[in-house]
Amino acid sequence: MTSFDRSIKIAPSILSADFANFGQEIRAIEAQGADWVHVDVMDGHFVPNLTFGPPLVKAIRPHIKTVMDVHLMISPVDPYIDAFAEAGADVISAHLEAGPHVHRTLQAIRGAGCKAGLAINPGSGLDGVEYLLDMIDLVCVMTVNPGFGGQKFIHSQIDKVKTLRAKIGDRPIHIEIDGGITPETAPLMAAAGADVLVAGSAVFKGGSVENPEPYGANIRAIRAAAEAAR
Ligand code: DX5
Ligand code: ZN
Repeated sequence: MTSFDRSIKIAPSILSADFANFGQEIRAIEAQGADWVHVDVMDGHFVPNLTFGPPLVKAIRPHIKTVMDVHLMISPVDPYIDAFAEAGADVISAHLEAGPHVHRTLQAIRGAGCKAGLAINPGSGLDGVEYLLDMIDLVCVMTVNPGFGGQKFIHSQIDKVKTLRAKIGDRPIHIEIDGGITPETAPLMAAAGADVLVAGSAVFKGGSVENPEPYGANIRAIRAAAEAAR
């Protein structure tokens, strides 16, 4: 990963890609301007949906030239951290709600050589984050209940991001927003202090590997709206 900065970064979620064509889809979104690639891992237990595990993450790694941002919506997390690190994740985010020992989980992520991310569900407050700030590289604020793409943005999370931004101060911690990001909602979060914007349906809509230009137009629309709000 390159050095830390707070510029707006668009991270398309491959949850909205063609699952039979991950390699081509990833090359297409990067060619069209994606800054990071967001990989949603779901276990059918922590969230009511199943996606994929370490072998798939490892298989797509060679196609990613930017940053592989792995969002683990799984519980327990700890037994799988080394496998996702070995699969080539740059960032691994685990949920605050995934177990009682998130401090240990974050230690394990950094210990495995990855950047450590902490994901927070819409219903969770920031109390649990306070004592973790010096051991994380990213906070992922969920603006939908995790499990599915294409859900509606939850506006109550704007205040959470403002409060979080103040708590972070000068620490080199990214604020990532995940769920319901569009050119309409991105500026609300950019103004509140977010820098990494995950978008699935709003990036992939209208395009395909044969016709990737809409991916570029979608990414540029989200980025322009966010940057204008800064
Ligand atoms: C939701 C996932 C998101 C999701 C975002 O559980 O963590 O990354 O793919 O999808 P959209 O942008 O369609 O809300
Ligand atoms: Zn995600």
